Amino acid sequence: MARGVSKDALGVAVDSEYTGKKFRLAYIGCGGIAHVHMDALTGLPDVEVVAGVDNRADHLKVWGEKWGVTKLYKDWNTMLKEVQPDGVAVCTPNGVHMAPTIDSLKAGCHVICEKPMAMSAAECEKMIAAAKKAKRKLMIGFQYRYHPNTQFLKRAADAGEFGDIMFMKCQALRRRGIPNWGVFGQKKLQGGGPMIDIGVHCIEMAHYLMGSPKPVAASGNIWTYFGNKPSTVVCPWPNWDHKTYTVEDLAIGQIRFDTGALLQIEASFVAHIEKDVWNFSFMGTKGGGNFDPPAIYTDRAGTMIDSKANFVSNEDSYEYLFELKLRNWVDSCTKDTPSEAPGEAGLAVQKMLDGVYRSAAAGKEVVIK
Ligand SMILES: NC(=O)c1ccc[n+]([C@@H]2O[C@H](COP(=O)([O-])OP(=O)(O)OC[C@H]3O[C@@H](n4cnc5c(N)ncnc54)[C@H](O)[C@@H]3O)[C@@H](O)[C@H]2O)c1
Repeated sequence: MARGVSKDALGVAVDSEYTGKKFRLAYIGCGGIAHVHMDALTGLPDVEVVAGVDNRADHLKVWGEKWGVTKLYKDWNTMLKEVQPDGVAVCTPNGVHMAPTIDSLKAGCHVICEKPMAMSAAECEKMIAAAKKAKRKLMIGFQYRYHPNTQFLKRAADAGEFGDIMFMKCQALRRRGIPNWGVFGQKKLQGGGPMIDIGVHCIEMAHYLMGSPKPVAASGNIWTYFGNKPSTVVCPWPNWDHKTYTVEDLAIGQIRFDTGALLQIEASFVAHIEKDVWNFSFMGTKGGGNFDPPAIYTDRAGTMIDSKANFVSNEDSYEYLFELKLRNWVDSCTKDTPSEAPGEAGLAVQKMLDGVYRSAAAGKEVVIK
């Protein structure tokens, strides 16, 4: 499916000349990722962006002018009262996810909150409770579960092709990729570094594939050795703010599930490896597989078979994945169709992230409740 030709949850193409009642959406946080959302929304003609909120006037101005949004606010509560949108997309730094999400739910809006869901599992629980009380949809921006490779493997998992998945290895490794914008290096505003920022994506798609087992214990270590020093090497994102850098550069964790399965996660902004890795691979009782390249390893007709996907989709761009996640959320709000990434999925992932950080601080395995 080409970008801009959106389908609803049943796979029916949404008319680009849509004339029905539009879903009125407002943005809280109009920085980098809110622009990606806006680009993706060109494929959702049934959505109208009605307002934006940002505490930085320059960001708000650029975003409003670029996308033609005229109702611009510094404070989300004023916006919620005056605009009364149907839905809100929360695109602020991680430390500013819980408050606008809960305020928006209380104001009667559905919410899609960017990943990670929040700073801690305790915050996530409050967000889920607010959604239940308000009877509104809360979805988390986990776009990688809509990736065609994930969906290919998920269909095989649901058909029982892997048996029980015993071990999952997730890797979100950048050779050199410390964000040089926003507040990604500040622990008090983000909750952590590569584990919570990019490890979260590999964990979310792997956990989804595994059928969302319950995490019960975690162990891990984190190291900071690079980002807290000035950039001296030529790299794609130079000159990060090393003076405010308080997060880890590398995190390695292991999660134990109530099923007995293990998930291992490696996440880094600065890994001394040949090239970036964005992958998960796994071993099940009947078969195994790999996200990139998409492949299934199993036995067939008395023979060990490697099944490499010949074609999974003609579209897997970043913007397209955002289009799919926004489509899924809007459909869940307007048609009550199932959400692939409800708040509960965000909470489970957050418990794993919390567990790795808690274990690293404690120097031993910790229990996940
Ligand atoms: N799904 C993905 O692949 C993906 C990719 C990148 C970022 N994100 C997530 O999106 C969020 C934002 O990331 P970003 O890259 O857009 O960062 P950013 O710094 O570019 O944008 C954040 C915006 O929020 C604004 N802001 C901060 N505090 C605010 C407040 N109290 N009230 C109103 N506005 C406030 C900032 O001024 C800024 O414009 C983060 O949680 C990040 O993890 C998700």
